[in-house]
Amino acid sequence: MTDAQTQIIDALAKCPLVPVMALSDLDWIPQLAVDLRDAGITVAEVVLRTPEAIDVMKIMKASAPDLIVGMGTVRTEEDMQKSLDAGAEFLVTPATSPKLLSALMDVSVPVFPGAATPSEAMHLYDLGYDYQKFFPAEALGGVKTLKAWGGPLPNVTFMATGGISPEKAPDYLALPNVIAIGGSYIVDKKTKSVKLT
Ligand code: 3PG
Repeated sequence: MTDAQTQIIDALAKCPLVPVMALSDLDWIPQLAVDLRDAGITVAEVVLRTPEAIDVMKIMKASAPDLIVGMGTVRTEEDMQKSLDAGAEFLVTPATSPKLLSALMDVSVPVFPGAATPSEAMHLYDLGYDYQKFFPAEALGGVKTLKAWGGPLPNVTFMATGGISPEKAPDYLALPNVIAIGGSYIVDKKTKSVKLT
């Protein structure tokens, strides 16, 4: 493992809740970054689903430098490059394509590529990805599915995301093959607050 991988795995062991954030309100980001850090969040995922995502990620990191801030919803080489140029400390992909995987091969920051089937998880593991995103977790059978994968695929560890509620999070986190869960519920855009449970 690289130092960056060790750092993010340690950070997720400290706090396995990863806010998945599609944000546009740049004025809020400095306060949000501090609120996330104060709530104990160690790893934060901004997603490339708003035109402001790159700026959000930069401002978040500048506002709480001890947070590990990365980019999610990376679907193309261009997404990957602009995220890296802006300082993404990790990348998350919802799924993969041969083209995206070949671009990701040269990336030095940790990458969590998305897997939705055992074949995809095995293929990604063969490419060196011990840590993957399991997406969309609830729609794919959630805890039951991950438990079943744990037998034949004991070497792959997942960050599970997609439809996970605060009530369901502990069941995922109790699985030996889950290092973290990602959820959009952690940041409540309406009340501008951070919610862990
Ligand atoms: C996503 O890509 O949107 C994440 O998986 C978060 O999903 P959620 O909104 O269901 O928490």
